[in-house]
Amino acid sequence: MDRSFKLDIQEFGTLANGQKVTQFRITNPNGLEMRLIDYGCLMTNLLVPDRSGKLVDVLLGFDRLEDYVKDSPYFGAVIGRYGNRIAGGQFSLDGTTYSLPQNDGPNTLHGGVKGFDKVMWQAAPITDSTAYGVAFSYESPDGEEGFPGTLTARVRITLNDQNEVTLDYTAVTDKPTVINLTQHNYYNLDGMGTCLDQVMTIYADQYTPVDSTLIPTGERAPVAQTPFDFRTGKPIGKDIGADNRQLAYGRGFDHNFVLNKQAPGLLSLAAEVYSTKTGITMDVLTEEPGIQFYSGNFLDGSLKGKGGLVCEHRGAFCLETQHFPDSPNHPEFPSTRLNPGDIYQTRTVYRFGRKD
Ligand code: GLA
Repeated sequence: MDRSFKLDIQEFGTLANGQKVTQFRITNPNGLEMRLIDYGCLMTNLLVPDRSGKLVDVLLGFDRLEDYVKDSPYFGAVIGRYGNRIAGGQFSLDGTTYSLPQNDGPNTLHGGVKGFDKVMWQAAPITDSTAYGVAFSYESPDGEEGFPGTLTARVRITLNDQNEVTLDYTAVTDKPTVINLTQHNYYNLDGMGTCLDQVMTIYADQYTPVDSTLIPTGERAPVAQTPFDFRTGKPIGKDIGADNRQLAYGRGFDHNFVLNKQAPGLLSLAAEVYSTKTGITMDVLTEEPGIQFYSGNFLDGSLKGKGGLVCEHRGAFCLETQHFPDSPNHPEFPSTRLNPGDIYQTRTVYRFGRKD
């Protein structure tokens, strides 16, 4: 095997307005390959060796730019300004009420109608000695999708020689605002089929129960003795069909877990996933206080992904590291406020390995 990093840059497609979209293909010395595009700051492919050494693309996604633009359920994208939901499309800051597009029933989801997943980012390759990747940046104008302040966001996505994909987010604003950036990869550690046999561990003693529109009630409920107890690891599908009102609201798992932390902001192990079939393992480490575990409940088999693969119901899971949903309307949750002069800074790592 060629034991060096590689970075290859090629055209991925052209947007309706004529802008060219570029794809960056990064290979690490162990043969893992990550592909990123500057539209949506988006990861299209992540090829990881299984226990026999064969590469498995562990991400749902598309082959063509048009499909990402048309009707992607946020496949692989960076989500902003506010990942997850804001109740009723409204929040107040210093006495002013801000109205946002209501694109998920009565609520705002994933930054509104045209979130960070649907804009062009500036992109520059990173070629450090132990990690290759792309430095992305986007300046969101004051008032974009209803949010106050010009927000300059930067996301560095790198792959190192330890098989870690690291996302380093930073942002600054010129007016007080709210921010909650995340990344929306849809993982399937088998590369196909459903994700229901994959074994998930989430290091959370509590989760935030929701109402019927998936807005947290404000409560932090114990996971003990509920289907939400993933602390010792179990197949995603084991309790997904349990008779439980929270599961009915989410049509499965679509909930924020309150991560166990020694101290706020510490980079700590949040979740582990394992496929008995391929032997591929994924660990998620984050500085964020929460993680949204979404079991692909809205995938219904109507989308055709890479190579024509049908994106089947629960054909992938998402682990979106984040502040809690609707925090701007919940003063009891960790704050998502960003003030001018302060720097929003947060790191999440997805680390791959294999078990025999
Ligand atoms: C997040 C949400 C889900 C769903 C998906 C995209 O995970 O919590 O409810 O919107 O994004 O379909």
